[in-house]
Amino acid sequence: MRIPDTKIDEILEQTDIYQLIDEVVPLKKAGNSYKGLCPFHTEKTPSFNVHPDKGYFHCFGCGEGGNSISFAMKYHNLSFPDAIIMLAERCGVTIEYDQNVSQDAKDIVALHEELILDSRKYLYSREGKKALDYLYERDFSDSLLEEFQVGYFPPRVDPDKYVRKYDKSVLLNSGLFKEGQYGLRLMFYDRVMIPVKGVTGKTIAFSGRTITDQQPKYINSPETEVFKKRRVLFNMDKAKGALRKMEYALVVEGYFDVMRLHENGYSNCVASMGTALTKEHIEILRRYTGDIYMLFDGDQAGYNSALKSLATFVESDTYPSVVFLPDGEDPDSFLSKHGKDGFDDLIGSKKDLFLFAAEVVIKKSKDFNAKLRGLDRIKELLMIIKSPYRKDYYAQKLAVMFQIDENTLRKDIDISAAKTRLRRTGESLEQNRDRRGVTYFCERDFLAALVQLPEDVSLMMTEKILPEFFNDKKMSDIYKKVLDVLQNGDNINVLLSTPDIAKELSPVIISDLNSDLYRMASASREKILANSVKDTMNRKIKDSADMDEKRRLLIEKFNAKKQTQVKTDPED
Ligand code: GTP
Ligand code: MN
Repeated sequence: MRIPDTKIDEILEQTDIYQLIDEVVPLKKAGNSYKGLCPFHTEKTPSFNVHPDKGYFHCFGCGEGGNSISFAMKYHNLSFPDAIIMLAERCGVTIEYDQNVSQDAKDIVALHEELILDSRKYLYSREGKKALDYLYERDFSDSLLEEFQVGYFPPRVDPDKYVRKYDKSVLLNSGLFKEGQYGLRLMFYDRVMIPVKGVTGKTIAFSGRTITDQQPKYINSPETEVFKKRRVLFNMDKAKGALRKMEYALVVEGYFDVMRLHENGYSNCVASMGTALTKEHIEILRRYTGDIYMLFDGDQAGYNSALKSLATFVESDTYPSVVFLPDGEDPDSFLSKHGKDGFDDLIGSKKDLFLFAAEVVIKKSKDFNAKLRGLDRIKELLMIIKSPYRKDYYAQKLAVMFQIDENTLRKDIDISAAKTRLRRTGESLEQNRDRRGVTYFCERDFLAALVQLPEDVSLMMTEKILPEFFNDKKMSDIYKKVLDVLQNGDNINVLLSTPDIAKELSPVIISDLNSDLYRMASASREKILANSVKDTMNRKIKDSADMDEKRRLLIEKFNAKKQTQVKTDPED
């Protein structure tokens, strides 16, 4: 979907970034900007800054930053077009979509809606009797099925109706139709259909469960522009309100578990799309609540999944609880048997995942050697815990559990952490060897100026500056994109709304030190030129075998340095 560039400017102009962010992150005035607690990392003192007049935010704690669009994308987990639509609705700007492309996107949404309705009809038709009986057998009521819009597709669905109504590109791009021997066909057959919705409630995919013993048990829509398994949590659209209210999230494995829990008043329940929980999932949940309860099967497979998830959680600075179901039960069957009271008791038995992992290690270790090996792995995670209090707490507990001296454990973590730091610094020095480990501030400054100056001035500034002159690979890549935009006369704000790029440039853009953009651009431009001359010379010097040649080049280098110094003199 392509949104006209001028609209993006209008939306950015009309959106008060202060209001937009203050709604979700309480902000306090500080000079001519606002401060608050960063929603993108955990912090106790505010380092998250919002500059309404610049239309930018930046966190000095975690480096996140950007404009209103990238904030909406990151915070609300929206795609670029969805963020634009959300902001447009807020500020009352109407978007006339670029005809063709947007029509496809609209049609894909419409196609999903139509398939939901059709699958619901099939479920209650003669052809769907087997499926409906199956669902009734599992005690799913009509009203629950309606709430989740569960349907059914029989073994043969005539595609003609859809082929007549939608462009072939729409049917194929939706991922729901495949090119078969006899033309297009629906990819789901003889399956119970469960619609999967995005955070905003739009249907973005389907999951189909077999009602026979057909393998696989579940088939999902393929990944598309809007459906990325790593980022999608089933039922997030319904759960998001409840997560804030109930202040914790229940994460289960199955769709039917989610439905059963929802029926019993646990609307704060989500499931991944059959994958282990990802960092992205955790990040999304944490926007609503930091208290996460993971429900696992009470068998070996369940323990293993729990253990496997620990590293992802610690790396996301999140410490969930785990709840194990009795062997052979899942949340659905457990609730059916023991009711809400039983389930509440079960949740009451929750354990801290970190300590649970330690417990398992100890139980599984047949001797002291095995125990120490297990401790080594847990130690790695202990080292990266951010809060010193939490680290202390776990260290105390671990010492008791492993029957070791707490101070020895602490000393060991400190030494290991120092060693890891050293190794990392070594690695990054190695990577930066040809960059001499220096950050090229001038490159970032140059880009930040280019994206803020009038296009014609920026274009002039780019003359003779090649992407290869940049020492920082990231900056070089951004520069290539900026060049593209400037040369094609595209809108620079579109590029600036890309979260990655916004994040790189926002610290300079919001800085008050660079109020004279033109000066910043020319000064950093000269430095980049000088660096590139120096780099070329150095390479030549290094490559020349002959001593006299080397000497001549060195002299040339000194002269070049003198010249560029004169050039960058502010009075020049
Ligand atoms: P029921 O058996 O109907 O209760 O489903 P369940 O959700 O309890 O199934 P199970 O515990 O076997 O699987 C948990 C989740 O893993 C499912 O909800 C799916 O998301 C996923 N899953 C299970 N089997 C498959 C499969 O064959 N393919 C895919 N893509 N996902 C699966
Ligand atoms: Mn189940």
